[in-house]
Amino acid sequence: MKKNDVSRRHFVGGAAAALGTLAIAPELASARDREAAARGIRRVPGGAPMLRMFDEVEEYDALAHLSSNENPFGPSDKALEAMNYAFKYSMRYGYPDNDVHEKIAAAHGVDRDQLLMGAGSGEILEVVGLTYLGHGKKVIGVEPSYGSVYRHASGIDADTVLLPLEDDHRQNIQRMVDATNRNYRDVGFVYVCNPNNPTGVCITADEIAYLLDNIPEDVPVLIDEAYHHFVEDPEYEESIKYVTEGRKVIIARTFSKIYGMAAMRIGFAIAPPDMIQEMSAYSTGSVNALARWGGVAAMEDVEAQQKMLAHNKHWREQTRADLASLGFESIPSQTNFFMVNLGREVAPVRRAFRERLVAVGRDFPPMLDHLRVSIGTEEEMGRFMNAFEDILKTPVMSSRGG
Ligand SMILES: Cc1ncc(COP(=O)(O)O)c(C=O)c1O
Repeated sequence: MKKNDVSRRHFVGGAAAALGTLAIAPELASARDREAAARGIRRVPGGAPMLRMFDEVEEYDALAHLSSNENPFGPSDKALEAMNYAFKYSMRYGYPDNDVHEKIAAAHGVDRDQLLMGAGSGEILEVVGLTYLGHGKKVIGVEPSYGSVYRHASGIDADTVLLPLEDDHRQNIQRMVDATNRNYRDVGFVYVCNPNNPTGVCITADEIAYLLDNIPEDVPVLIDEAYHHFVEDPEYEESIKYVTEGRKVIIARTFSKIYGMAAMRIGFAIAPPDMIQEMSAYSTGSVNALARWGGVAAMEDVEAQQKMLAHNKHWREQTRADLASLGFESIPSQTNFFMVNLGREVAPVRRAFRERLVAVGRDFPPMLDHLRVSIGTEEEMGRFMNAFEDILKTPVMSSRGG
């Protein structure tokens, strides 16, 4: 379906709705009403203007969603079943919650007091900021990375020390160590996203060890492992062991990616008990009943995870190969997204995708000529490739000089 079709349908729908409203007494319709109707706002007699949501919802549903690194299949059947069951607790406080804390702690080999739950790992990242960035402290990290950490830091008047990626898109750990040591007194925490979003590139186990061994022991290190399930690189390792060793390390995890529960808002931190206590002061810990029940079921549904991993790898590599055959290089990725080098500014290209009802990743300065593409369903990847050829073939080939 083309964007134009949808727009026209919306226009007709909007006009019909407007006429429906106006038909009651057309001569009474004021210019304001007509203008409101044209914008899709319907006046309800005696009530407040009601915004018509349908245009937006229809357009959202028609999109190929390749912009936010979600699981295109959503929660597994078992997770859905658990969430359906949990509806019966919707009106309760203090309801049975499927022992979500105990089960997450056990699944990760940590104690209950080493765990903090949040409404998505986004909340956890903010809580880390609120806890460790007071009094003008700095966060050290690379750019581009998961920018919400830096945006939040700026929002609470903390500073960011942002280091460039290497030419091969790796994070330069030596530079991170140097920057941390140089700013030691002012460092609130070091942020490492592993694997990194938006590049999909990992930091190796040895590099993480080097980082931790070469910065002062009292500097907290936040390791964001949102995409760890997808990693196959044998040199990569999850970092929970540093928490059990008592290092000042916080691991952030989410149910939004492999478990397909982004809209349910559930994530957690694993950290030493004293850090969990410090952070608890800034956290609501408010995770809803459906997310708790669904989260446990999703975590235990290994078969669904394996299915997602196989699908993800197949379509990531297939799409990268298709792009390579058109002459576009992409960065090898260990995640459910990858970046393709367009050789030109991404923003207008992204808008062209959107007109074709394909949503792709946002700007990631300074990599403004790289487009981040999430792995969707087979159908969505087909739509992406069709749109890609349509948008990029002619102009880019000529701008590259053939
Ligand atoms: C690296 C990284 N960390 C954290 C998040 C936040 O995820 P959520 O708040 O949905 O758990 C995301 C979401 O895209 C992410 O990419």
